[in-house]
Amino acid sequence: MIEQINEAAAYIKSKGIDEPEIGVVLGTGLGNLFVKQIHDTVVIDYHNIPHFPVSTVEFHKGRLVYGKIQGRNVLAMQGRFHYYEGYTMQQITFPVRVMKKLGVKHLLLSNAAGNMNLHWKKGELMLLDDHIHFQPDNPLRGINDETLGPRFPDMSQPYSPHLNALLISIAKQKDIKLNIGVYVSVMGPNLETRSEYRFLRRMGADAVGMSTVPEVIVANHMGLPCCAVSVLTDDCDPDNLKPVALADIIAIASQAEGKLTDLYVELIGRL
Ligand code: HPA
Repeated sequence: MIEQINEAAAYIKSKGIDEPEIGVVLGTGLGNLFVKQIHDTVVIDYHNIPHFPVSTVEFHKGRLVYGKIQGRNVLAMQGRFHYYEGYTMQQITFPVRVMKKLGVKHLLLSNAAGNMNLHWKKGELMLLDDHIHFQPDNPLRGINDETLGPRFPDMSQPYSPHLNALLISIAKQKDIKLNIGVYVSVMGPNLETRSEYRFLRRMGADAVGMSTVPEVIVANHMGLPCCAVSVLTDDCDPDNLKPVALADIIAIASQAEGKLTDLYVELIGRL
């Protein structure tokens, strides 16, 4: 894998992406406004990068966008990879390994997630304080390369307390409601049944989605500090569950995208 990481990183560098400091992963319906904040951009399609998977989800753009926000060098993934697309866990987390190789010091993730906390409402944001990995595979499965990270990485604090504290204070200042909670990752691609939502809620999760946790596991493996914010796109109350279409999820994500962009742009300025 090291060779593949090096080849991908060398290609990206050859295109002028030489010193990224902050990596950003933009989730479903969240790839537009943030990217508009990036100046002096260099854009690379995933399919041109050696060993990069290509996004099969048609509403996800598949490209890297590099440039400046608040004077800092930012490398954003416009579109990510999901396990349900058929890739391995190693493939979906490969871009995070490449970002680290390129020198990224902080990783800011985002996703669209179902809201299971009845005190909150769709359209609001949730900062991940912790997660439950409930997908059937792990990106660290297999022989461990000690040059990347340890065999048994600690997970007592998967999300950087420093980044989370900054985000909480920025949200307060900007009067953006930022709930704090636990995200559970599931395989998908179907949404959950009423009984599954009931079960996931009882197990201790506030929000459910199909991404992010594998990337966070790999970031922790490599000692890359990260944070993640969910946009709560649908209310998952098992006793009052309404049908949800992907278009609804994308529409709510787009409505909340401005708040997420505000938070992350300000955070980047403070790093
Ligand atoms: N379940 C799983 N993933 C999701 C959901 C959901 O309800 N909403 C957005 N992503």
